[in-house]
Amino acid sequence: MQYLLNIVLTASVAVAATVPSFSKNAVFPNVFADPSLVQEPNGQYWAFGSSNNVSNVPLAESVDFVTWTLQTFDALPHAGKWAASAPAVLSPNVKPLDNGEYVMYYSAALANNTKIHCIGVATSNDIKGPYQPTPEPFLCPIADGGAGDPSIFFDPVDGSMYLVYKVNGNDLVPGGLCGNQSPKQAAKPTPIMVQKVNSTTGLTAIGAPKVILQRGANEGPNIGQPSLTANYNPDAPNGFAYFLFYSSGCYDSVKYDARYATNLNGPAAGLYTKAATPLMKSGDGKNLHSPGSLDISGDAQHVVFSSYECAYAQGRRQMRTGLVQIKGLNVTI
Ligand SMILES: *[C@@H]1O[C@H](CO)[C@@H](O)[C@H](O)[C@H]1NC(C)=O
Ligand SMILES: *[C@@H]1O[C@H](CO)[C@@H](O)[C@H](O)[C@H]1NC(C)=O
Ligand SMILES: *[C@@H]1O[C@H](CO)[C@@H](O)[C@H](O)[C@H]1NC(C)=O
Repeated sequence: MQYLLNIVLTASVAVAATVPSFSKNAVFPNVFADPSLVQEPNGQYWAFGSSNNVSNVPLAESVDFVTWTLQTFDALPHAGKWAASAPAVLSPNVKPLDNGEYVMYYSAALANNTKIHCIGVATSNDIKGPYQPTPEPFLCPIADGGAGDPSIFFDPVDGSMYLVYKVNGNDLVPGGLCGNQSPKQAAKPTPIMVQKVNSTTGLTAIGAPKVILQRGANEGPNIGQPSLTANYNPDAPNGFAYFLFYSSGCYDSVKYDARYATNLNGPAAGLYTKAATPLMKSGDGKNLHSPGSLDISGDAQHVVFSSYECAYAQGRRQMRTGLVQIKGLNVTI
């Protein structure tokens, strides 16, 4: 159903004509980091963000993708027994399932080891929540440093559900998220992975995860915040090219950016090929400060992302919106 919805959404692109390709300003002033985007069948948009000082999972809504309203309730009042209390929930990501429920994936620190984050899953009958978490994390590769930045993707080819996420190798090294190296220890791998998920329940893994991207020499201590979409492409064996958006660098560094990589052969068909230049970076003339954590909708067009309020990663990390154009394997915003 979700993949049919995506095709319907692609057909309704004309509605977006009044939306500028790029919001020069935050959609509201409040902190709203690592936003994810979901559109309901009735057209309503929702965005979910990392914990702010009010909610574990704050959310915002928009009917036209232009005017956004920050809500005051918490979509995830409890992050699960496995998660550290007063959780800092990171990168929540929501999608509707065929059974009428909504599923949310998110990351949080472990109760028994707050240096390590794992990926939890929760469901709700209402898109706004409250989402009920499962007792154990969905995915928890402790020996590899844990995992985070989950994002859900439905393949338009056959409706299969996938989760893309990042392995937090950097959390095994002093310096953590923004360090990932020390005089005594080399940087650890921070691969981006894809895991097939049972699309009936949205809760159970099918098979083992696969590596789809590795950090490059020019990508700082980290790559993360993957988000996957597919776009019609006559050169692809199954008619669709896959676009993996991701961020490189430390989120509060001036070098943090939004990038993408492509694969013509399928969502889980080995390593993606990186685009030569970032999609967005600080100082590229778009009034952006450390832009990244981009999430793309199933229509391969609408995006939300975070950008700092002021240069050099100062001020609040706010939400912005945009529309991307895909031509062949090239993406612009
Ligand atoms: C919470 O953050 C908002 C802006 O994002 C700020 O206006 C408010 O003062 C903060 N509240 C507390 C208690 O820190
Ligand atoms: C810590 O919690 C995680 C998640 O529930 C679990 O997988 C792991 O086994 C626990 N570790 C210990 C040492 O109990
Ligand atoms: C998905 O989960 C449902 C419900 O538990 C089960 O009946 C079905 O066999 C599962 N599908 C796959 C492909 O594992």
